[in-house]
Amino acid sequence: MKKIAIFASGSGSNAENIAHYFEKNENLNIECIYSNKADAFVLERAKRYSIPTLVFNRDDFYKSTNVLESLKGYDVDIVVLAGFLWLIPENLIRNFTIINIHPALLPSYGGKGMYGNKVHEAVVANKETESGITIHFVNEKYDEGQTIFQAICEILPSDTADDVASKVHALEYEHFPRVIDRLLFGS
Ligand code: GRF
Repeated sequence: MKKIAIFASGSGSNAENIAHYFEKNENLNIECIYSNKADAFVLERAKRYSIPTLVFNRDDFYKSTNVLESLKGYDVDIVVLAGFLWLIPENLIRNFTIINIHPALLPSYGGKGMYGNKVHEAVVANKETESGITIHFVNEKYDEGQTIFQAICEILPSDTADDVASKVHALEYEHFPRVIDRLLFGS
């Protein structure tokens, strides 16, 4: 049995999509969904799938071992960041394989402050002809860990940031669970 944990700060549509993808897979369990926001919609989504949740604050995350101990308690194989906005502390990086999804083609449009619609607005402002997703290992710097997978979508001159977001979300939903599946089971 493989065990994963998901970290999310917001809506959690990717977290739910991953939960849905693995719902009937008896070889994988989502042990817990972690969030730094007590009112994040991802926590509602977790309830739908009866996944335990843990909300933590900055001190828990950066000045205590609470989150580390919780993850160790669940004995997770990997930690999946799905729209989680805080930098991951070194104690977690040292102890777990952590992966993230970024809504652009890294190394472009990454780094601190480059998240959510800011990414898509920058892509449109620069008149890019393509964008996409990057799934990568997480290290101690924002968006700089080794790339695992990328997928590309075409951007039309008429596309707004919201249009780009829709295209990118579609790629995320299609590929993120499959990449996790491959990483854990080699399928
Ligand atoms: C996604 O676009 C993901 O790439 C980024 O944050 C967004 C999260 O969306 N890291 P959701 O919370 O999964 O709906």
